[in-house]
Amino acid sequence: MDRYVIRGGTPLKGEVEISGAKNAAVAIIPATLMVEGVCRLENVPQISDVSLLLNILEQMGATVRTVNRNTVDIDCSKVEKPVAPLELMRKIRASYYLIGAALGRFGQAEVSMPGGCDIGARPIDQHIKGFKVMGAEVEVANGIIHAKVKDELVGGTVYLDMISVGATMNIMMAATLAKGKTTIENAAKEPHIVDLANFLNSMGADIRGAGTSVIRVYGTERLDGGAYSIIPDQIEAGTYMAAAAATGGEVLVKNVIPKHLDCITSKLQEMGVTVRDLGEAVLVKSDGPLSRANIKTMPYPGFPTDMQPQIGAALCLAQGTSIITESVWDSRYRYLDELKKMGAEVQIDGKTAVIEGVKSFTGAPVACSDLRAGAALVIAGLVAEGETTVEKIHYIERGYEDLIGKLRKLGADIEYLKAPIDPEQGDALRATS
Ligand code: EPU
Repeated sequence: MDRYVIRGGTPLKGEVEISGAKNAAVAIIPATLMVEGVCRLENVPQISDVSLLLNILEQMGATVRTVNRNTVDIDCSKVEKPVAPLELMRKIRASYYLIGAALGRFGQAEVSMPGGCDIGARPIDQHIKGFKVMGAEVEVANGIIHAKVKDELVGGTVYLDMISVGATMNIMMAATLAKGKTTIENAAKEPHIVDLANFLNSMGADIRGAGTSVIRVYGTERLDGGAYSIIPDQIEAGTYMAAAAATGGEVLVKNVIPKHLDCITSKLQEMGVTVRDLGEAVLVKSDGPLSRANIKTMPYPGFPTDMQPQIGAALCLAQGTSIITESVWDSRYRYLDELKKMGAEVQIDGKTAVIEGVKSFTGAPVACSDLRAGAALVIAGLVAEGETTVEKIHYIERGYEDLIGKLRKLGADIEYLKAPIDPEQGDALRATS
């Protein structure tokens, strides 16, 4: 099995360049299905979730051309029917955005129930409710979602029962090519919601209020091509900030929008870490013991669930008792069981984790249970005395571009160990990355 091997104990020092936002890219790429013309997307992160989605679009008949490492041209004008292998779609949660995009352009969609990280139940009832309000018929059978518009997609008012990033984006997409006005109430406000709206508006849509809890979409007849640059990844930036804090390092995190990081910055400051806003970068410096803090995850602008494990790993090393309340997902503490193998002292009771800070971690073999859990284990490995091996790293590669290269530039001792080609050969083959 491929794995990372980390020899910890070195404070991270230097600069890191943040890539484009995964959770914006995985919505914007499916949204190109609605555009008649070439979309040039810049600042696209090179991660496996993006490759999968591009592959799905190609299977539908789109032309995808790589311009350079982080720029891609996508032309979906020749797609006649939004049909792609269900097996491929099942691998990625964001394939559900193909429903909103395809309903708008083709009046029908067939997508397998989404996969992705296993972090608890992940229903999509709010997405379906929104499509139904707009006149679509939606059925789920044998793990496949069938959606069809009888006459035409018509705008309406959708009140979300809970704040959902995915439902807000999916309904926004379907509404873009629907007739009339759609209002989404109790909408999510994450930076990637605003990014998707900006992308669609730049192609000719009329979406107002993204970033607030009421979004109004005035339907348009068609979207034309153009160029768009994806925002920097808030969570990737936060992950390096947490790694700098945990290792007692000093890192300049570049290509960020500091405003998007406020919720993370203020928590780190509470933990005794210095964070300076330098406009398009933040400087993170940690040179004393971390202080305890409590975290409660919430929709934006609250503390993001996608940063809970990384800050959780740092809190395991803070002086005193910290309490985490995970209020978005049911099952996002599995990384803490792994961290116990490295010396963490934690008690979990339902949605609450109580952490007693320890002085350090000791290296151990651990395994990722999801993308952000994986990031937390890497952070712990960077701090730990001795060697840590992190398995099931395909989760991490879903969402972090060149993690190994970026961490090495910051002085980390981390390598990628490939599984042996022939199991008889014994130990894994060492490979550079
Ligand atoms: N929910 C419902 N019904 C729905 C939709 C959501 O009950 O129809 C509930 C969920 O069960 C959850 C809450 O509402 O308790 C929030 O879910 P949301 O829809 O906001 O999550 P998502 O769109 O499935 C995205 C990110 C996640 C991130 C969450 C919350 C993508 C592809 N995924 O998921 O990212 O945790 O928003 O911010 O954008 C990650 O990047 O590691 C990751 C898991």
